[in-house]
Amino acid sequence: MSDKKIIAVTGATGAQGGGLARAILADDSGEFAARAITRNVESDKAAALADAGAEVVAADLDDVASLERAFEGAHGVFCLTNFWEHFSPEKEAQQVANLAQAANNAGVEHAIWSTLEDTRNWVPLDDDRMPTLMDNYKVPHFDAKGAANQTFIDQGVPTTFLLTSFYWENLIHFGMGPQKGPDGVYGITMPMGDKKLPSIAAEDIGRCALGIFQRGEALIGKTVGIAGEHLSGNEMADALTDALGFEVRYNDVPPEVYRGFDFPGADDLGNMFQFNRDFDTDFRGARSIEQSRELNPQLQTFAGWLVDNKDQIPIE
Ligand SMILES: NC(=O)c1ccc[n+]([C@@H]2O[C@H](COP(=O)([O-])OP(=O)(O)OC[C@H]3O[C@@H](n4cnc5c(N)ncnc54)[C@H](OP(=O)(O)O)[C@@H]3O)[C@@H](O)[C@H]2O)c1
Repeated sequence: MSDKKIIAVTGATGAQGGGLARAILADDSGEFAARAITRNVESDKAAALADAGAEVVAADLDDVASLERAFEGAHGVFCLTNFWEHFSPEKEAQQVANLAQAANNAGVEHAIWSTLEDTRNWVPLDDDRMPTLMDNYKVPHFDAKGAANQTFIDQGVPTTFLLTSFYWENLIHFGMGPQKGPDGVYGITMPMGDKKLPSIAAEDIGRCALGIFQRGEALIGKTVGIAGEHLSGNEMADALTDALGFEVRYNDVPPEVYRGFDFPGADDLGNMFQFNRDFDTDFRGARSIEQSRELNPQLQTFAGWLVDNKDQIPIE
């Protein structure tokens, strides 16, 4: 039997966990083995991970017993929830509770929890600078994750809290790419004013997570924020202009306008951008590019990411 330390990776068929599984498999030191967790071991993504050398195991975040089985014998676990699948902060909190309980029962030596800020620590619910959403939240997909940090602490799980950043892949998959304006000029739209947004190539999140597992105990109990760059809307638009070969401008809109856009979660994202804009010193301060590069020497810049990915950005 291999003496590699097993890292059980939730979300392994997705962006963050997939990046970690691939980083483990590509790591020449061979310190770790990747155990990829998915609900559907028959999917193409699961098959690709198995072909690349990962052990593929079935479990569901809603079924704590399945997580306990999947975490058994693991040295480390990467814990990910996908808010956008159900849009329910309460369900997300329950899934985190299941992850923390399973990690505790399995006796893992190191968990990484992919989290975000509980923005209510900056903007309490009675603060009307931004609307309260779903009765109890300012930025539902952030707040539930931040509040759930305590679950890992209460369970006594040796945890590193990983603060992630806005993926550049949102330009490809999340409808945030350049849209043609009424004057025929393309634009990207974010209510960020002239403030800079920490952002990252999704694949780099998993590579940073591998760096955290490699450092082990030194980062247990710590919060580690990661970003590839901190970019203003104008800087993102300029980089897109250079990469795509036509003008892309930055449209700054007020957060209340963004919240009213016609797509699911627009209010949540409008509040998120407003939080990032209005508390940019704290938000950026928590996400060091230098530390991210130390954890992951392959850390990409936006311009570098565009060279490889610009053809995937939908342009209509
Ligand atoms: N987009 C951004 O800019 C951004 C930035 C920071 C943080 N985030 C956060 O990232 C999270 C999503 O991560 P991602 O982008 O890596 O996900 P993704 O690419 O959309 O993939 C979702 C992953 O979650 C797994 N999953 C979902 N529900 C599950 C369940 N009930 N049981 C087991 N596995 C389940 C899926 O596995 P199977 O389908 O194979 O079972 C899949 O691997 C969200 O919570 C979001 O808030 C996003």
